[in-house]
Amino acid sequence: MSYDVEAVRSHFPALAEGAAHFDGPGGSQVPDVVADAVAGTLRAAVSNRGKVTAAERRAEDIVTGARQAVAELLGGTGQGIVFGRSMTQLTYDFSRTLAKEWGPGDEVVVTRLDHDANIRPWVQAAEAVGATVRWADFDPETGLLGVDTIAGLLSERTKLVAVTAAGNLLGTKPDIRAITRLAHDAGALAYVDGVHLTPHGLVDITELGADFYACSPYKFLGPHLGLVAADPALLETLRPDKLLPSSNAVPERFELGTLPYELLAGTTAAVRFLAGLVPGEGTLRERLTVSMPLVEQYETRLRERLEAGLSGIAGVTLYGAPDRPRTPTVLFSLVGVTPGEVYQQLGADGVNAPAGTFYALECARRLGLGDTGAVRAGIAPYSTESDVDRLVAGVARIAQA
Ligand SMILES: Cc1ncc(COP(=O)(O)O)c(C=O)c1O
Repeated sequence: MSYDVEAVRSHFPALAEGAAHFDGPGGSQVPDVVADAVAGTLRAAVSNRGKVTAAERRAEDIVTGARQAVAELLGGTGQGIVFGRSMTQLTYDFSRTLAKEWGPGDEVVVTRLDHDANIRPWVQAAEAVGATVRWADFDPETGLLGVDTIAGLLSERTKLVAVTAAGNLLGTKPDIRAITRLAHDAGALAYVDGVHLTPHGLVDITELGADFYACSPYKFLGPHLGLVAADPALLETLRPDKLLPSSNAVPERFELGTLPYELLAGTTAAVRFLAGLVPGEGTLRERLTVSMPLVEQYETRLRERLEAGLSGIAGVTLYGAPDRPRTPTVLFSLVGVTPGEVYQQLGADGVNAPAGTFYALECARRLGLGDTGAVRAGIAPYSTESDVDRLVAGVARIAQA
């Protein structure tokens, strides 16, 4: 079965503006079906969730539909899907809830490969209760985070291991299965940041062993919100701060205030779109099991083309070992030109490849890139060979100037 990128692109109205988008890791473009689902919900009669009126039932169906769609995307359970404003917001919420059970002498492991949203909430929650933070370092030469490094930081006092399933700066995919197994052996929970992994392949949170798996639909062709997937039985054991009259059911007890129904409808549409990226039949999960590996293969081919092109340009540095497991995200810099200038000059030519640390601040500092970072080019399902060639030609021109 093949991947028809032109058919995929025909669903993205934003691409008509002509830019080559390598800014997907910051937020992907959105297909027409997602925009239609959001707009359709805003145009329809929708009120608070309930069973009495048609408007209430519509809201109810939207919420349960979105939970189910996300569960199929991640291999989880609908009742274990918690929605919130963003991954950052939810991770702060969960850190405060989990830290209620921590005290002095307890330990939390965070990694320098991670986005700050899976570091700072844990550091601050640990500080608030006198718990100790243990830092897992990655190898700046290869971009790899060793399982042994995590093993060396665990003890019988470890409460939680917070780790990324794919770093958003380097794209590195640590061996999450091995890390969660180690965490569980130590009696700790694993909070996995799946924001950067989810758009780029088939995810199975049970297989990964993630107790909590956080991600954001706006990175996988959906609208701007965040979610956490967990086992409902685990969620039952937690006591988040909440309003007295609001539902204490799982997952509702973690969802503060009224959910954004239109964004949930858009999220369902995004998951369906991902499942339909290649024609096929079966349940949503069955179709995702076919479509996501094809997306991954397609994106990997483009990433290889991009790296081959960039590495042929004198003065380009590519970060991380070429053969490490990773997403199709390329971090590079150009000698003698600041990343910000490269970003600006490419942008002037309609090639959107931003520069920065992208909030993976610890990672950028460890790579020696300080708080400036480098240029990041991310491949998305709508990227093409011609986009890649535009980027390579643009960098070559800047290098020669
Ligand atoms: C790996 C990773 N984790 C977390 C986040 C934060 O996500 P959100 O914007 O939903 O808070 C991002 C956003 O860029 C990310 O790339």
